[in-house]
Amino acid sequence: GAIAVVMPAAGSGQRFGSAQNKLFAMLAGKPLWYRSAAALRAQTLVGRIVMPVSAADRVVFQNQFAGLVAELGIELVGGGDERSDSVRAGMMVLVDDPQVRWIAVHDAARPLVTDSDLTAVFDVAAQTGAAILGMPVPGTIKRAVGENEATARTQTVDRRDLYVALTPQVFSTGLLKQAYQKHNGRPATDDAELVERIGHAVAIVPGRSDNLKITYPEDLLVAEAILAGRTKITAD
Ligand code: CTP
Ligand code: MG
Repeated sequence: GAIAVVMPAAGSGQRFGSAQNKLFAMLAGKPLWYRSAAALRAQTLVGRIVMPVSAADRVVFQNQFAGLVAELGIELVGGGDERSDSVRAGMMVLVDDPQVRWIAVHDAARPLVTDSDLTAVFDVAAQTGAAILGMPVPGTIKRAVGENEATARTQTVDRRDLYVALTPQVFSTGLLKQAYQKHNGRPATDDAELVERIGHAVAIVPGRSDNLKITYPEDLLVAEAILAGRTKITAD
């Protein structure tokens, strides 16, 4: 497989608020992280899948989930304090593999990504060297201009060129390595921002709005409904 995956899973799921990492929560009978990895494993272009995990969770993956980890051929590595530290750790185990031409970074917390969105973003990344999925902004966007809420006045932002960044974010291996080498520690909200900073264009591929990141407990209810809807449509 010319594409390798880094699937950051080393967070703690603060906002989800469960005792265990949210990634162990079940969605239609499978853990969240498993669904995210399985979607990528189903792609014929995908070879290695590296999953950064926290020291605490590593034990859980190695004991409780050893079978599922082996089934998907997942390589576990130690993550870091920030998401970017985890992505860097995953990337480092891949960069010296000559087979790995592109690296796809995909949140372990996005279990609903579809085959067609994966194919689309892989395709554009292969042509351009850097592509991400993005959701066209669905509503009207206002900017509040002013000192404080009471005195601010609104301006309407043209949303035709605005997207919410999703994952996967896919980069040629050399480009992602270079972006992380130049990373000076200034926080970035995603991997594409690090690539933008070194002056390389990142293409945006319109993706489905139901490629949710599970952040809060209620997101899991929405995800259950989305999955149920997809199954129903297929069965009809
Ligand atoms: N992640 C990671 N390493 C970190 C922080 C986050 O690998 N130090 C991963 C998470 O496990 C998740 C993805 O990055 O799969 C997106 O992060 P987020 O949704 O914010 O998850 P958490 O950081 O775990 O959640 P929270 O911010 O609520 O604590
Ligand atoms: Mg987080």
